[in-house]
Amino acid sequence: MTSPATTYASPFVLSVLLLVSIPVIFLLAPRLLPPKTLPAIPDADESDDLALFRRAILSSSSPSSATPTPSSAASYFFRRRPAPKVAFLFLTNSDLVFSPLWEKFFRGHHHLFNLYVHADPFSALTMPPTPSFRGRFVPAKATQRASPTLISAARRLIATALLDDPSNQFFALLSQSCIPLHPFPTLYNTLLSDNAGPHGRHRSFIEIMDDAYMIHDRYYARGDDVMLPEVPYDQFRFGSQFFVLTRKHAIMVVRDMKLWRKFKLPCLIKRRDSCYPEEHYFPTLLDMQDPEGCTGYTLTRVNWTDQVEGHPHTYRPGEVSASLIKELRKSNGTYSYMFARKFAPECLEPLMEIADSGCDVMNKHRVSIYALELLREANSGS
Ligand SMILES: *[C@@H]1O[C@H](CO)[C@@H](O)[C@H](O)[C@H]1NC(C)=O
Ligand SMILES: *[C@@H]1O[C@H](CO)[C@@H](O)[C@H](O)[C@H]1NC(C)=O
Repeated sequence: MTSPATTYASPFVLSVLLLVSIPVIFLLAPRLLPPKTLPAIPDADESDDLALFRRAILSSSSPSSATPTPSSAASYFFRRRPAPKVAFLFLTNSDLVFSPLWEKFFRGHHHLFNLYVHADPFSALTMPPTPSFRGRFVPAKATQRASPTLISAARRLIATALLDDPSNQFFALLSQSCIPLHPFPTLYNTLLSDNAGPHGRHRSFIEIMDDAYMIHDRYYARGDDVMLPEVPYDQFRFGSQFFVLTRKHAIMVVRDMKLWRKFKLPCLIKRRDSCYPEEHYFPTLLDMQDPEGCTGYTLTRVNWTDQVEGHPHTYRPGEVSASLIKELRKSNGTYSYMFARKFAPECLEPLMEIADSGCDVMNKHRVSIYALELLREANSGS
């Protein structure tokens, strides 16, 4: 039996449904059509990062973190100021296969550095961490190529290192396929002895290029004119993702909201081949804010001969030799290269052999890969 109320209500309900459905269709339509852009960064990741960055900025701007506040002049003079440290920031989505090599590099210098690892939580790391890497994994989020998530991960590492230790004065970004080319003291002295920045300050070693032929496509990867007004075309820069930043620049990076608003936009799917935001964000930001404080080149050697789909030459075990290490150190800049990439995981064994064989001959006291340093002198002297 139909109640009179239902009979009267039906046309009314129908028309209401019809009215409601129009906006619903408009809302759903974009979801039903294939997306035009690559996936955006999840909002939850963004808000977690913002909270972390705020804490890092706050802790870095308090006077006690910059210079220890002396309770009296005397205590100031007698207090031993902690030595500046290098924060090694490892960005990885696979096992840190070269950690035994890094252990040799780090050995005996633990008072002069800190280590932080951002490992993509969706990648399975199977190797147990070696001692220096143990407990050094920071809360990580998913990372993908062709995505601003690589910038987020680097900023997350920088912010964590800023917060963790006010003695962290240099921030070196590395990946699992990077190797050291020199002993730790050579790196440390290079970073600390360079004071060609404004007012005799240390500089960041970051590559900054503006004449690269791919800048055009890279600039428009997120869409036409979406970068304006924050990032004008002629201020868009290009450079290796692997850098060493000073603490001043590290703070600048986690403070930035203005450029990030543009660089975090996902690329258009049709332009994904030009989507390498991590190679543009840092050089563009630092070139806008403090060009004199940057060297304009990186300390990380890479071989782009015969590149394949945006991947540089990956060294295989057969190519590894002491003379390759010597060759990779050579640079046209003021300083020798300190790190190199990319090395296939199988290169660990020959690299360790070079390290150890050098030690046997030249350095009986301490195991150090970088007896190579001495080997070079021995060779050039003979
Ligand atoms: C760079 O890679 C090419 C192969 O792609 C190789 O022939 C060359 O020797 C490499 N250069 C250096 C300095 O290792
Ligand atoms: C140094 O400069 C020369 C000439 O521009 C170039 O051929 C060479 O590849 C450069 N070497 C390095 C290590 O960048």
